[in-house]
Amino acid sequence: AIARSLPALAVHLDPLGWLPLRREIVRYLVARGIECQPSDIAVVNGAQQAVDATAHALIDPGDTVVMEQPGYFGAALAFTACQSNLVGVGVDEQGLKTAELARVLQARRVKLVYTTPAAQCPTGAVMGDARRRELLALADEYQVPIFEDDYDSELRFNGAPIPALKRLDHSGQVIHAGTFSKVLFPTLRVGFVVAARPLLEKMVLARVSADFATGAVPQAALAALLRSGVLARHVRRMRRLYAERQRAMLDALARHMPAGARWSAPPGGHMLWIRLPAVDPDRVFYDAAAEGIAYTRGEVFHFDGRGTDCLALSFANLTPPRIADGVALVAAVVRRQVAPGRRRSRSARGPGSEQRRTRRAPGDGGTVDAVGTRG
Ligand SMILES: Cc1ncc(COP(=O)(O)O)c(C=O)c1O
Repeated sequence: AIARSLPALAVHLDPLGWLPLRREIVRYLVARGIECQPSDIAVVNGAQQAVDATAHALIDPGDTVVMEQPGYFGAALAFTACQSNLVGVGVDEQGLKTAELARVLQARRVKLVYTTPAAQCPTGAVMGDARRRELLALADEYQVPIFEDDYDSELRFNGAPIPALKRLDHSGQVIHAGTFSKVLFPTLRVGFVVAARPLLEKMVLARVSADFATGAVPQAALAALLRSGVLARHVRRMRRLYAERQRAMLDALARHMPAGARWSAPPGGHMLWIRLPAVDPDRVFYDAAAEGIAYTRGEVFHFDGRGTDCLALSFANLTPPRIADGVALVAAVVRRQVAPGRRRSRSARGPGSEQRRTRRAPGDGGTVDAVGTRG
């Protein structure tokens, strides 16, 4: 199929993306409740380029952009590169705190709100229905566009993927971005963005200026994978696989982490957000690296230097036994750092016994709620 498409693709690349691929993406989006046509979509080099093109199209130096804290570092990078004034809004187990957002919107003019409603990055929290309605009402009231980064919605372990915020958007304020990075692989560099026409045109101009268009071969390959149903089957398999891997990580955390550690247990995704008890985060990071364990440090997900007591542990490409071993190693490093009085007793409750409990971590300004805790 790819070879058949290439003669046409080799001579002309539409900056909006190859039409057969956009048609497949429309089919997928309509199934998710987003009414759109191929002309409403631009294929981009991953969700990151959608964020970047949006920032270029909308943001002038000094403009205020609101994003979740903790939040996706790639978005913070794109908004910072456009010299925006970044303002953080906290998240809890329902995602972005709309009451806090309302206060920011009352106080100043905001050019854009960036959010990850289906799977808050990095906590994995799913934005509830009431919050979604509040967010859209605020977007209407203050005429502020919302960037919906839908990067991880397909990796939900049970039931249908979380409906898109865009589905409820009747005034065209939501810019919806998706990606094939999580369901296939991140080096593929193909994503898409749906936005109202004048804005989409500006975004496409920004991306043309950056790199003209997304490569022909990945576009043709993706169109074939979508059309044939292979991708849908693959995603179903990934959901089962990732559910097993998340289970292995949750069990290992419950078994090995010392008192005071807390972690998220989201209904999908590829990583967990972990809050450590009082430890030296540099020593934990370098000691873990010496044991061969890499993770993303919590401050990477904050643009204001907070988050040093947190980390994001990915289970995406590890088997359950390797996950169990890796978590045991990290936990041993953390335990070595914890003040003796705070070590947990070995007779602590069994694995997973606290998964349903929701607690706010102390002293974090209410930014993150974690379910699953030791201590
Ligand atoms: C929340 C979030 N959005 C966007 C991206 C970037 O995705 P892409 O590879 O499609 O550019 C990532 C990548 O990790 C992410 O975590």
